[in-house]
Amino acid sequence: MASNLLNKRAAFLGAGKMGGILLRAMLEKGLLSPSNTTATVQHEEKARELSQKFGVSVSTANLAAVKGADIIFVCVKPQVVADVMQQIRPNLNSNQIVISVAASVSTRQIEEAVKHEIPVIRAMPNTPCVLGVGMTAFCKGKYASAQHLETASALFSAVGRTVVVDEKHMDAVTGLSASGPAYIYIILESLAEAGVKVGLPRDIATLLAAQTALGASTVVLETGDHPALLKDAVTTPAGCTIDGILELEEGKLRVTLIKAVVKATQRAKELAEG
Ligand SMILES: NC(=O)c1ccc[n+]([C@@H]2O[C@H](COP(=O)([O-])OP(=O)(O)OC[C@H]3O[C@@H](n4cnc5c(N)ncnc54)[C@H](OP(=O)(O)O)[C@@H]3O)[C@@H](O)[C@H]2O)c1
Repeated sequence: MASNLLNKRAAFLGAGKMGGILLRAMLEKGLLSPSNTTATVQHEEKARELSQKFGVSVSTANLAAVKGADIIFVCVKPQVVADVMQQIRPNLNSNQIVISVAASVSTRQIEEAVKHEIPVIRAMPNTPCVLGVGMTAFCKGKYASAQHLETASALFSAVGRTVVVDEKHMDAVTGLSASGPAYIYIILESLAEAGVKVGLPRDIATLLAAQTALGASTVVLETGDHPALLKDAVTTPAGCTIDGILELEEGKLRVTLIKAVVKATQRAKELAEG
């Protein structure tokens, strides 16, 4: 699949933070070739800067960028998606795939905006895709097939793990794994601050916190064991960890994290409703 993709022409509409991360990662992984890839942004000066940075053609012309493209990534802000889809409509056909990463924009809204029976994949990646350790969930629209899902899977697998979900779960994915890196960074920052409080140099405290989070995440992913069981294995009776856990419980860490994901999911739903 990866070598087939190299011959595909790709257009990234909106090469900002997420579009830029995906564009750069897919080029670096050799999934897409620079000569077959174009991108767009809103501002001319940004286009010039990114063209040099990524070594691909970058312009502000969405309609021209999608002409002849096999895969069209829509990476603009949710409120701009409808406008951009209307702009590119004349150069779209049903042999292309539209992959949108816009939060809260449904496959149906995109299908209606383009007025073509075009395969649409809605994807929700996260920023760790930049180092190939991202998490992307996706679902397919009315005209997309299992093969289109496979193409999306091949593209996003190059930048991390992937999972296919029902479209009704996409707002929850946004609240958990797309917003999630921000929550984890706050937890890491706090653990590092705690290390400093108990006398560790900041760089060592940050290393200890980040590698511990990576280690614990890797164990959950590799063993498939329930996190509660793994936590019990660290918690020696009358030891140190249980005292730390009691503080976390008193500070309502669990309920706070649950509420954060619920709120972010609700916000994604609100954005969807306009
Ligand atoms: N950031 C995340 O963690 C994350 C995670 C998952 C999904 N997403 C989704 O990714 C999308 C982009 O978010 P972002 O954080 O990457 O935002 P961003 O950094 O602001 O990027 C938006 C990009 O769109 C460009 N743009 C604006 N209007 C345009 C137009 N009419 N035609 C072409 N390009 C246009 C902007 O150009 P200029 O640079 O010239 O202004 C900018 O490069 C959103 O829909 C968001 O829901 C983001």
